Amino acid sequence: MRLSPVFVALLSGLLAADLGLARSVAPRVADSPAAVTGTRKTSLLKNVAGLPPVPSAAQVAATSLNTDDIQGDILVGMHKQKQLFYFFAINDPATFKTHLASDIAPVVASVTQLSNVATQPLVALNIAFSNTGLLALGVTDNLGDSLFANGQAKDATSFKESTSSWVPQFAGTGIHGVIILASDTTDLIDQQVASIESTFGSSISKLYSLSASIRPGNEAGHEMFGFLDGIAQPAINGFNTPLPGQNIVDAGVIITGATNDPITRPSWAVGGSFLAFRQLEQLVPEFNKYLLDNAPAGSGSLQARADLLGARMVGRWKSGAPIDLTPTADDPALGADAQRNNNFTYSHAGFDLGSDQSHCPFSAHIRKTRPRADLGGSLTPPNLSAGANSIMRSGIPYGPEVTSAESASNTTTQERGLAFVAYQAQLSQGFHFLQQTWADNANFPPGKTPATVGLDPIIGQNNGQPRVVNGLLPSNSSASLSIPQFVVSHGGEYFFSPPISAIGGRLSA
Ligand code: HEM
Repeated sequence: MRLSPVFVALLSGLLAADLGLARSVAPRVADSPAAVTGTRKTSLLKNVAGLPPVPSAAQVAATSLNTDDIQGDILVGMHKQKQLFYFFAINDPATFKTHLASDIAPVVASVTQLSNVATQPLVALNIAFSNTGLLALGVTDNLGDSLFANGQAKDATSFKESTSSWVPQFAGTGIHGVIILASDTTDLIDQQVASIESTFGSSISKLYSLSASIRPGNEAGHEMFGFLDGIAQPAINGFNTPLPGQNIVDAGVIITGATNDPITRPSWAVGGSFLAFRQLEQLVPEFNKYLLDNAPAGSGSLQARADLLGARMVGRWKSGAPIDLTPTADDPALGADAQRNNNFTYSHAGFDLGSDQSHCPFSAHIRKTRPRADLGGSLTPPNLSAGANSIMRSGIPYGPEVTSAESASNTTTQERGLAFVAYQAQLSQGFHFLQQTWADNANFPPGKTPATVGLDPIIGQNNGQPRVVNGLLPSNSSASLSIPQFVVSHGGEYFFSPPISAIGGRLSA
């Protein structure tokens, strides 16, 4: 039997992918020297039980969003396995633009490509620019976002943090852009970095990089404190099929220039998104010790009571099960069930929404960052309040697992944390708003008894000082805890993730 040439190409591609080999037989989009070419056999994204699934090819086919032109990372959520954030400065704009147009633009991974394993590249490449990066390219158009225009370092005081704890490269405005590489092996990412560096040559300099990875084994999908992360993402109207309880927002909340984005954007910037990057260190052994030392009194083992305190800080048990639905004990089956684990509003028949913290404290991280019925709207799911303040989270843990020596000494000796990524059409409504106006505001949510809620125990900041947090003890809702800061910001930058058409168009003209 003769094999068709198409079948032979496919088969050799599969074999090469199996062996983790870079090859040039079946180029993905274009024969670009910047691409690690080859055919993929298994998805570069991981579907974790309990998280909204990776957007499917069917969803992409049915949507009116131009998913061919939207960079993939914006809409895939927290499903990445290995990732590298490569922060660079542009030294030679003319040479950089030439390569950007001819070598990079053709291989930027779109939402469409990532939705289907058959079209996924070996390494998904996305690229985004800071305001100083756009200026270096001669692009002075007003994108309509002053926080982006000023850069994140100028925003540090809004979050009661000092740039003295920041990675030095983030403390100014010297970073021009970030290349985000995602794959299922670090080896493939390393090959991709080598291709990019040889493509751009001295037209760029690497200023900093951060490599990040899904956690091993059963911790896959969990952030470094141990909680399943990436569950509650907004569903985009006309794109995602909403899961029960999911917030449903217009595309213009996340994508610039899309439906109901209230800001006028330059035409080339329609289909982009603002990317807030933050390197957030997590002091895991210290956090665990605090939970044990401050475990609420009551029945159950010390560890079980410490776990309860942690769950009340986050608003979910480690499995992802919401404490609003299961307030006294974890329910792993609920945590893993995306049809049920987001289906709540904090309202319960027979309980006063204004004073009931027996289910979930007002200060819990997920209640601070999406208060659901606390801000009005339906008492039964879905509660669509404050849709404009939604972000699409796309972060991933970084750093090693906690060692036994660190556990034994209750002391962090190796940095680990969350490479936090949030996409939104307006930083002032998205990341910046959630951190400043909600997480760091002791009187939010409003109209509660007791009136002072305290800061978000996970991400609230108070100039490095302990944070006052109320309502965490189940038996005494007016008790206050003074909680050291276990998430330490090392800063970041605001970027614009442009539509793919602009990468080879306006930005390289
Ligand atoms: C190291 C820092 C952080 C950790 C450990 C963390 C952890 C978590 C966890 C475990 C969840 C619950 C699972 C889920 O729904 O995905 C969650 C949800 C969430 N987080 Fe964070 N987070 C961090 C930083 C941030 C920051 C900086 C923001 C924004 C300012 C943020 C915004 C949110 C939002 C919006 C949700 C979903 C709330 C909902 O809709 O119910 N997180 N986070």
